[in-house]
Parts: sequence; C-alpha cells; structure tokens
Amino acid sequence: MFDFPDDQILPLSKEHVFWTWSAQAKVNPIPVKRAKGVYFWDTDGKRYLDFNSMTMCVNIGHGDARVIEAMVNQARQLPYAAPGMTTKVRALASKLVAEVSPGGKLSKVLFTLGGADANENAVKLARGYTGRFKILTRYRSYHGATAGAMALTGDPRRVAWEPGLMPGVVHFLDPYRYRSTFHRTNPDISEAEFSQDYLNHLEEIIRYEGPETIAAILLEPVTGTNGILIPPEGYMQGVRALCDKYGIVMIADEVMSGFGRTGEWFAVDHWNVVPDIMTMAKGLTSAYAPLGAVAMKPEIAAAFDERTFESGLTYTSHPVSLAAAIANITVLREDKLVEHAAGMGPVLKRLLTDLGEAHPSVGEVRSIGLFGILELVKDRKTKEPMAAWNGSSPEMVAFRKTCLDHGLFLYTHWHTVLIIPPLIISEEQLKEGFEVLDEALEITDKAGVR
Ligand SMILES: Cc1ncc(COP(=O)(O)O)c(C=O)c1O
Repeated sequence: MFDFPDDQILPLSKEHVFWTWSAQAKVNPIPVKRAKGVYFWDTDGKRYLDFNSMTMCVNIGHGDARVIEAMVNQARQLPYAAPGMTTKVRALASKLVAEVSPGGKLSKVLFTLGGADANENAVKLARGYTGRFKILTRYRSYHGATAGAMALTGDPRRVAWEPGLMPGVVHFLDPYRYRSTFHRTNPDISEAEFSQDYLNHLEEIIRYEGPETIAAILLEPVTGTNGILIPPEGYMQGVRALCDKYGIVMIADEVMSGFGRTGEWFAVDHWNVVPDIMTMAKGLTSAYAPLGAVAMKPEIAAAFDERTFESGLTYTSHPVSLAAAIANITVLREDKLVEHAAGMGPVLKRLLTDLGEAHPSVGEVRSIGLFGILELVKDRKTKEPMAAWNGSSPEMVAFRKTCLDHGLFLYTHWHTVLIIPPLIISEEQLKEGFEVLDEALEITDKAGVR
C-alpha cells in the first residue's frame, strides 16, 4: 500500500503538504523513517539524538513495543465507539488518569484529541461551574492553536490572530526572575519576597477585574516553550490560595510539564498543589496516538449532574488512543520513568551549569527534572538576547544547523535552546548531546561581548 521509494517522500510532501507554523516556501523537513529509544533515523540512514522528544511529547521514548502492541490489539478488537458508549479502555484509562492525578483527587476525566481542545473544554467547565466569564492567564504562555486556546496564550502566537479570538481573557505577568520587570534595581531580593511581589501583582489584577467576574486562572505550572520558568517557592501555593479566597477555579495546563517531565508525575506535585482542573496531552500517550484529557475534581463535574454539558467531540475517548494511554502509563509506572527523570535532574542541571560556565554566550540555565533550557545572550551584563523577542538571528540559525549537522535534534525558540529528551535517556546519552552543544556554542560565543 505504501510502496514507493524513500527519495520520493520529500518531493511529494513539498508538492502536496500544507505546513503548520511555517512559511510554505521555506520548509525543510527531515524525512524521518524510524525511531527507537532516544534516537531517530532519516531516510538516508542518518541518526539523530532526540533532545526534544519530537514535540516535547515522546516521554517514554520511541518504538516501545508494549504500547504498539496495545494499540494494534485494540484496533483489531474495536477501533472506534461512539461518544455516548463506553468501552473497557475508557473505563480503565479514566481510572488510571484519576489515580496518577495530584493526590488522586481529580477523579473525573474528559478525553479530548490534544492539548488545545483540553484547554477549550477546561474553560467551558470553569465557566459553567462558576457562572463567571473571565479567564486569567500569563503573558509568557502557550495554550494551543484553536481560537479559544490562542486567546488564552500570552505569547505572540496569539497576537498574530487578533482580533477575533475568544473574548474574556486577561493576562498577567510571570515570576521570571532572570528578566523580572520589578526587580532590576534589587535583584538579590529573597525568593519569598519575589514570589509575594508577583502574587500581589496578580491579586491587584483580580481586584481590578472584579473577582465575581473571574471563572478561572489557567497557567502552566512550569512554563514550556516560553522559557522553562520554574515558579519560585511559595508562588504556586499562593496562586492556589488566591483562587480559594476569591472562589476562582485553578486550572493547571500540564500538557508539556506532565507525565514525569519534571521528575514528578505532574509539575504541581513539586509544590503539593492540587488544581481544580488539570489539562494534559503529549506525555499522556507519549504521542503514540493523539489524545488529550481534562481531569477535574468531582464537584466541578457535579455542576453538570442535572444540566447538560454542551460540548463534545466525535473522537472523544478514541479506543486506540486510550489503549496507548493505558500502556504508556503502565510503562511509566513499571519502568519507574518518573523516578528516573527525577534522578537525571541533577545530572542535567550539572551539565547545563558546566556548559554555562564554559561559554560566555550562555546567560542563564534552568532545569527541573528533564525539562531544561539555555538562555543565550550577546552580553551577560546587559542580558541582550541572542535573538530578538519573537525573532531569530543568524547566530541562532547557525547554532541549530550545527546541532542538526552533528545529529542532535533540538528546539530553539528565539534566543533559547530547550533540552527536553525522552525520560529514558541515560547519562552517557545526555553527555553525547552536550558534546555537540559545546561545539555549537562556539558560534554564539563569537557573536557576543566578552
Ligand atoms: C502547555 C501547552 N498547552 C497546550 C498545548 C497545545 O497542545 P496541542 O498542540 O496538542 O493542541 C501545548 C502544545 O505545545 C502546550 O505546550
């Protein structure tokens, strides 16, 4: 059925594919042929070390036969059932998600197709539950590409589609210490005071907007593409307290930070915070099949006991995706991959720190578990980024090209380099990637002031 030569993949794709997030004339895709563990291979047999888990999603690594088997068996038995029906995999997958959710407290689960529609449904649930309309989210955030999720998104991907997105979203600032607006003249402020300043900022916005109008605060507990921003101690607990004080639903978007990425099942677990609603996707199936989910406290679900929840998806709870989720969660548990990610956390941190010390173009490194970032700057004193806000630069382009030429696949975002490998990665494999980074950073070092 798929019998045509590998060398036709690129020309045929260029002729017929319409590419996302791309100017169509400028795409240069890797024709990928197979993948195993932390590596994938292109059609020429070139091997790449995957430092981005493809799209920050292949948490258990590539080609795990247990997940593939589960999907094949499910496809043979029953590939699809209607949303109003239920199946063994629907019962089991929702039970498993509830079990691994923070404190096991998010016991009702709605399955979606990915992260954006998980956030869309979370917003509907919060609005229906509270009878309020506004949603507060942060500027340095990404929540998906559908119209509602784009409105929730704080970064420039939203601005590209304004006006015309979902109304009712108000943005606030993130506690981003390296570039904090409020602390340029007093950068040595304590972590507790720093957290409190940003909580005060949030509370002021809540008051100006009117707490009685705010349905939810939706946030990435550890921010993903906008900078691997790890909240300072007290911040997540403070957001939880503000939500409780004003009767606001707390929604944690764990689409990227979930399923072991940070060394806990979910990032909120680092601070023992239980959100009212949590959205997930990516690591839920490790991308073996498309799936998202909204897990919620039973009282949120109960608001719809007598009232219809006016929303749905033809492919909600798709059995093949749910089989993948069940097998994936089982692999994470049996192979102790969350614990492995936690154990590799200090290894990644040390490698990042050493790299930062050796290269003047590294302004700051941050990481938690296997979720890391390098911020590249032209000048450490002024922190001038290696590429402009929402832009690129010849140095960043050359940096990424060098990595790819040396068989290291990773994601660069503006002036940052993200390190998000599959959770199965070993210390030796991490070091293998860092040797390439060490070489590629020579390029950005040359662009800087010393
Ligand atoms: C934090 C976060 N939320 C939501 C999404 C959207 O997920 P999807 O692309 O599956 O719609 C993403 C995707 O990268 C994400 O990182």
